[in-house]
Amino acid sequence: MAIFYPFKNNGVFFMLLLWIVVSSVWGRPATFNQDFHVTWSEPHIKQIDQGRTIQLTLDQGSGCGFASKVKYLFGRVSMKIKLVPGDSAGTVTAFYMNSDTDSVRDELDFEFLGNRTGQPYTVQTNIYAHGKGDREQRVNLWFDPSADFHTYSILWNHHHIVFYVDEVPIRVYKNNEAKGIPYPKMQAMGVFSTLWEADNWATRGGLEKINWSKAPFYAYYKDFDIEGCAISGPNTCSTNPKNWWGGVEYQAFSAIEARRYRWVCMNHVIYDYCQDKSRYPMTPHECLSGI
Ligand SMILES: *[C@@H]1O[C@H](CO)[C@@H](O)[C@H](O)[C@H]1NC(C)=O
Ligand SMILES: *[C@@H]1O[C@H](CO)[C@@H](O)[C@H](O)[C@H]1NC(C)=O
Repeated sequence: MAIFYPFKNNGVFFMLLLWIVVSSVWGRPATFNQDFHVTWSEPHIKQIDQGRTIQLTLDQGSGCGFASKVKYLFGRVSMKIKLVPGDSAGTVTAFYMNSDTDSVRDELDFEFLGNRTGQPYTVQTNIYAHGKGDREQRVNLWFDPSADFHTYSILWNHHHIVFYVDEVPIRVYKNNEAKGIPYPKMQAMGVFSTLWEADNWATRGGLEKINWSKAPFYAYYKDFDIEGCAISGPNTCSTNPKNWWGGVEYQAFSAIEARRYRWVCMNHVIYDYCQDKSRYPMTPHECLSGI
């Protein structure tokens, strides 16, 4: 506080100091160039609307992808995405966080699996903790995600990981480390996105093929918002009380979120690894009730 005293009548200095504090701790809406770089096939990524919107292209030559310049330990990332319209079967648009480490990978995935014209997209989520994934869940959406932009977010703190579609939680993975269930929290993760061809698995197990006569396929991204603890300097991420995403109101669902989540579970979940007896004769530990 002493530092403020000699300058207490200097509004500009105060505002500057406030801006530095706020921008370094709380994050702010990101522009593409500030926070991301192209990781795969530059010619397939186009900035439009002065860099506020990104167009990803998939054609027979290549898909493409981009990633954040730095990694984050906890936080909330969100983007508005408009998916490939029409006959998008065989295309996969992904938005995910990944520790980018081969051996003990941590990863939080949103994957949007295209479908034939007029049939619904499938949103698949998956969680890798300490190198192990195979935790797929699939939901269908209550709107056409290719008709307009919708917000997709991942919240990640010490208490849980939540996937949101337009503020509606569609998936939660709780920190149950105390019960021996792995939870990603030791490694920072980058933010990634890709548009690619996956008709070997994404279309009912590879039954349907991408229709290249419909190419190129386009997906659009805007309103990049990363609010997380960037790992570049000293790591004070886990203990800093100013990191709002770890605050009390983000440690569990509010009543409204709980109600919305029940609605998704009852009406929109079409696959849940927890219920897949042929794949998991023994119910995975984290799926047991009471966990
Ligand atoms: C397309 O939607 C239909 C109807 O929901 C579903 O049965 C089918 O598996 C979907 N196909 C793909 C490729 O996702
Ligand atoms: C692929 O698209 C073309 C052009 O719209 C159409 O004529 C053809 O029937 C489609 N093929 C399949 C397998 O759907």
